[in-house]
Amino acid sequence: MVDKTATKLHVKTINDAKGSGEYALDGHEKVNGVAKGVISRVTNGENKHEPEPIEATASYKKYPLAYELSQTPFLYPRPIKVIVAGAGASALSFAHGVESGNLRNIDLKIYEKNAGLGGTWFENRYPGCACDIPAHAYLFTWAPNPNWSQYYVSAPEILDYMNDVADKYNLRHYITPSRKVVESRWLQDEQKWQITTRKTDGRRTVISSYGITEGELGEETVEKCDVFINASGFFNHWRWPKIPGKEAFRGNIVHSADYDVSLDLKGKRVAVIGNGSSGIQVTAAVQPLASQISVFIRHPTWIFPNLGSKFVPDGNNLTFSEEQQTQWVRDPQSYLEYRKAVENELNDGFPFFIHGTKHQADAKAFTIQEMNRRLSPRPEMIDELIPDFPVGCRRPTPGTGYLEALVAPNAELVWGELGSFTPDGIRSADGKERKFDVIICATGFDMSFTPRWPIIGIDGVNLQER
Ligand SMILES: Cc1cc2nc3c(=O)[nH]c(=O)nc-3n(C[C@H](O)[C@H](O)[C@H](O)COP(=O)(O)OP(=O)(O)OC[C@H]3O[C@@H](n4cnc5c(N)ncnc54)[C@H](O)[C@@H]3O)c2cc1C
Ligand SMILES: NC(=O)c1ccc[n+]([C@@H]2O[C@H](COP(=O)([O-])OP(=O)(O)OC[C@H]3O[C@@H](n4cnc5c(N)ncnc54)[C@H](OP(=O)(O)O)[C@@H]3O)[C@@H](O)[C@H]2O)c1
Repeated sequence: MVDKTATKLHVKTINDAKGSGEYALDGHEKVNGVAKGVISRVTNGENKHEPEPIEATASYKKYPLAYELSQTPFLYPRPIKVIVAGAGASALSFAHGVESGNLRNIDLKIYEKNAGLGGTWFENRYPGCACDIPAHAYLFTWAPNPNWSQYYVSAPEILDYMNDVADKYNLRHYITPSRKVVESRWLQDEQKWQITTRKTDGRRTVISSYGITEGELGEETVEKCDVFINASGFFNHWRWPKIPGKEAFRGNIVHSADYDVSLDLKGKRVAVIGNGSSGIQVTAAVQPLASQISVFIRHPTWIFPNLGSKFVPDGNNLTFSEEQQTQWVRDPQSYLEYRKAVENELNDGFPFFIHGTKHQADAKAFTIQEMNRRLSPRPEMIDELIPDFPVGCRRPTPGTGYLEALVAPNAELVWGELGSFTPDGIRSADGKERKFDVIICATGFDMSFTPRWPIIGIDGVNLQER
């Protein structure tokens, strides 16, 4: 609230008092210990004092730049406009910084190409998609969630959490969905970024990959900002296997990151390509449904026990009772202690990434023992599946149900390169064709870090070409 009668000073609203921020102008005299001409902003119960922008002296008006500068007194946080590309976890965290007042005087806009926020957790809907980090460690520190249903939660529950967070913390008004960033250009003379966005037709998911314009409508908007943040994520530019014949395949072919949730896999012959985290989760979930599953793998990987599973009696997962959730709601301190214990458990695992440590040797011995046990129904797989590189060289992948799926009677492991897709299935490099109804490519993402739209910097240099 700004009381304009309490002062002779010209008052400009620093921000529009949206969300939790509230403003009050103290008069010329000291009021409540606050010096005159100072705006006190109340944020989450804390008083933060900001100098008030003042009318410049008339003489400055002759010199436009001096006049403009004189509007911003010493210690006043210069108003800046920030544009963010993407509305995943990173953008929500930034928006919360602005909304809560930790980042002050920011005019924020977030453009999201998809029809909804959530990024990774909006896009990935393949069977079995989940977080393999304990949920109580996979949240915003400022948005604790005593109501997670399980120790490791599925993708839809994480997406719900993100939507709830956006509502509860009043972040949605910063986000414009269905608008894709298509160019960012640094304007040297103005010291500003110029961002071009294009409206999309409202489809659920839009691809951001240079040259792909599917779903974009013609309408473009060009805006300037002081800071541009590329929060477009690493894992939403999916990669198909680079083999011929994809269009010729007559069944359903999907990428794990763009999964068609209407697919009925019951009784189908299914191929899964890849054994990264996505391939591992999807294989475990699909094998019990499919009549037959073939898993195409090029390299072995370590299959770990679940990360931070010390708190899970059977090592797989744990469903939290309503009583437990209510107890954490009622007693935030005990919930905080639990979260810290889970976080400590995860952090304690760090030394196994360091080559030559006892920790790594122990982790390797334990993982080999577990892989042997779980693969015992098909012992011939053990030598093939246990890698010769140290644990931690590839992302540690806990695979609840994965090895069990591979040794199931309806499963087949196919090693080596792919040759091509055919109208009926997949021909592997050795020339053998296998027939499928559905092919799931869990073949990962373009990790080249090449910007997906032109980012043009000083002297017109396009980062895409660097
Ligand atoms: C299946 C899967 C499971 C994962 N599991 C875990 C896990 O267990 N633990 C963990 O720590 N991490 C996990 N990750 C990593 C996960 O991506 C991060 O934890 C986190 O969600 C990334 O958030 P982000 O906001 O940085 O990026 P993203 O979530 O990727 O969000 C980026 C957003 O930018 C948008 N965007 C892209 N291009 C444009 C454009 N041109 N214009 C406008 N918007 C654009 C996208 O649509 C997207 O909404 C997982 C990733 C995947 C794919
Ligand atoms: N925490 C989780 O629960 C979770 C779940 C899913 C994803 N993620 C994260 O998301 C990121 C991406 O994971 P991802 O599994 O989607 O991708 P990924 O780790 O890059 O794995 C892609 C897989 O596809 C294979 N592949 C690629 N092209 C191929 C081809 N032409 N022929 C045969 N195989 C091919 C790769 O084999 P090669 O190894 O032989 O190249 C690899 O096994 C990772 O950081 C991961 O941690 C996390």
